Amino acid sequence: MSDPAVNFRELISQEQLQAKTRELAAAVDRDYHGKDLVLICNLKGAFIFLADFCRELTIEHEIDFIATSSYRGMTSSSGIVRIVKDLKTNIHNRDVLIVEDIIDSGLTLDYVIKYLNLHHPASVKVVTLLDKKETRMIQIDADYVGFDIPDKFVLGYGLDFAEKYRNLNYIAEYVGEV
Ligand code: IMP
Ligand code: MG
Repeated sequence: MSDPAVNFRELISQEQLQAKTRELAAAVDRDYHGKDLVLICNLKGAFIFLADFCRELTIEHEIDFIATSSYRGMTSSSGIVRIVKDLKTNIHNRDVLIVEDIIDSGLTLDYVIKYLNLHHPASVKVVTLLDKKETRMIQIDADYVGFDIPDKFVLGYGLDFAEKYRNLNYIAEYVGEV
């Protein structure tokens, strides 16, 4: 797929994504055996990762979605997090696993964890496909991390560039306007 206005190159292949998703699901299968697991997908970016990840899980679980908004521009964070779609599932006393696409500043995840904790779940943990550890504005870490990536803007496999390119089946690095 190409667009004359946008230049990007593959960073993580479809095969690497598949292998890592299986690995993460195997760890969650082990750790959540016998627990009351609820996956909470943070839309929109995590939707493709969630779809692949949940199908690799063999333990029973429920799925719900929240949506947050933190980006005003195309590649820079506004730092302001809002919930734009709320939970429907009762998570009281249940084991919640937040499914994230990427952690960048950490502000979104921090906000979401605090918000979910208001509902008194038994536990809240996080699986993220991608982690940009260099760009944290606050100290926060995921419990399960797919790939550590450098401070580069990435797109594809659910992640957007100005709402496009979510359908790429690999993760690409944005390399600027042509
Ligand atoms: P944070 O609040 O700065 O940690 O950013 C979290 C959200 O910003 C993610 O869930 C993504 O939706 C978005 N985001 C951060 N970095 C990127 C990127 O490189 N490409 C696309 N979206 C990104
Ligand atoms: Mg997101």
